[in-house]
Amino acid sequence: MKITSICCIGAGYVGGPTMAVIAKQCPHIKVTVVDLNEVRIAAWNDPDVDKLPVYEPGLGEIVKEARGRNLFFSTDVDGAIEEAQMIFISVNTPTKTYGLGKGMGADLKWIELCARQIARVSTSNKIVVEKSTLPVRTAEAIKDILQYTGSGVQFQVLSNPEFLAEGTAVDDLLMPDRVLIGGDPSPEGGDAIQSLVDIYATWIPTDRILTTNVWSSELSKLVANAFLAQRISSINAISELCEKTEADVNEVSRAIGADSRIGPKFLKASVGFGGSCFQKDILNLVYISRSFGLTEVADYWEQVIIMNDHQKRRFALNIVRNLYNTVSGKKIAFLGWAFKKDTNDTRESAAIYVADYLLNEQADVKVFDPKVSEKQIYADLDYLGSRDPDQNRLGLSVINDPYEVCKNAHAIAVLTEWDEFKDYDWQRIYDSMLKPAKIFDGRNLLNAQRLRDIGFIVQSIGSANVKSHTVIA
Ligand code: NAD
Ligand code: UDX
Repeated sequence: MKITSICCIGAGYVGGPTMAVIAKQCPHIKVTVVDLNEVRIAAWNDPDVDKLPVYEPGLGEIVKEARGRNLFFSTDVDGAIEEAQMIFISVNTPTKTYGLGKGMGADLKWIELCARQIARVSTSNKIVVEKSTLPVRTAEAIKDILQYTGSGVQFQVLSNPEFLAEGTAVDDLLMPDRVLIGGDPSPEGGDAIQSLVDIYATWIPTDRILTTNVWSSELSKLVANAFLAQRISSINAISELCEKTEADVNEVSRAIGADSRIGPKFLKASVGFGGSCFQKDILNLVYISRSFGLTEVADYWEQVIIMNDHQKRRFALNIVRNLYNTVSGKKIAFLGWAFKKDTNDTRESAAIYVADYLLNEQADVKVFDPKVSEKQIYADLDYLGSRDPDQNRLGLSVINDPYEVCKNAHAIAVLTEWDEFKDYDWQRIYDSMLKPAKIFDGRNLLNAQRLRDIGFIVQSIGSANVKSHTVIA
């Protein structure tokens, strides 16, 4: 089937950018992105592209080019489903917070709602594409729901997981390492796969478009995230050893990454990985493995999460220990709250957990992030439920100026690797801080030697703490 009309359910970090790029590259296809969230859809339709609900470099220009031409954002889910030949499901699939699989399995209630809505509304044949990250064999449940409608409408279910990373979403979508499409081995399944291949082939070389069976495709997405996160936990484990031995984790990363079998990417030690995907998808992999009785497999992957939790906790503890074992009433300035640079997304950001530990120690936390709002920061903290919202607001405040946030601080903690942090006037910051002025660089972002020359005491992840000779002022 030659596709001329697409609908995407879910206008989030994946649905929005993915559909914007398809619409840009395929002007002959009408692309409608729908969501229940009216505020989000209104923001996608905002004439000022700086107000789009997702911040991604380059996204504003693409939306400007395609919106109103062949890209539409709407809350009319039924209408868009009915009109489309191909429907992407790109809704959230968070970790379950209740019942069976609580804290481990994926919550598929929104996926099922979409399948039921598609079944109810459709009057013509459709190709349904799983774009959300899903547990292996979810397509079976979707097919079940779709095949008993009694309407005579035929459905094909494809898996087409998304590999974009936030902050580089546009480049990742325009030039992906690969696109993965899983489908049914039947002739009808083959036709559906080909319809989706044809869309991507408009701009992606066909040797980068991989086709598999549905289950391999679903599972590959979880496995790709597990492997990526495993590399970070591996290097973070080594960072702790480096701090004890005067080895430098950056040098170790460079040395091992030069081996072409290992490769240099994803070996950057940090305060711990965050983001909406890694933890959720590994927990899901662990849960699936356990549910098949594969204890060793589950334990193996769970260790990636255990190590990541340890890294976040030990970063916070290190701050407390270095501030003479108490941070009570001490001002700790956070540079960064987003889970990585170039995004306004804060889901599972290490900063949230580090703040929580420090608030337990009665620290006075001040936060600056170039893209994250005060509202979001409090929402993140309140969501943890560690204390009353009032106490969160008493213990932590958000300041929209990096120099103000550092003024009179006992210590600075770098939680996100925003480029602009490197270019600050560090002498000015030093002069405004209490002494000894300490920096805990959770991203190995800043030039530690330059800061030490100014007088700072710097503790970077994965290198021994070199003491400055500054005396207490
Ligand atoms: P998101 O929370 O940003 O967006 C999901 C959207 O779906 C929300 O706006 C929500 O209102 C909407 N929605 C939920 N149920 C709906 C329904 N029944 N009808 C209409 N709209 C509905 O989530 P996201 O980050 O875009 O992630 C979506 C999926 O993609 C997840 O499965 C995630 O694991 C996967 N994924 C995310 C990333 C990423 O970087 N964020 C990358 C790859 C894959
Ligand atoms: C990830 C996957 O990379 C992407 O393919 C998938 O589609 C969604 O999940 P994302 O979470 O957006 O993407 O960002 P990513 O660049 O993978 O970073 C995840 C976390 O790991 C961030 O907190 C980042 O700071 C951290 N990280 C990354 C490290 O600590 N060290 C590294 O070397 C790389």
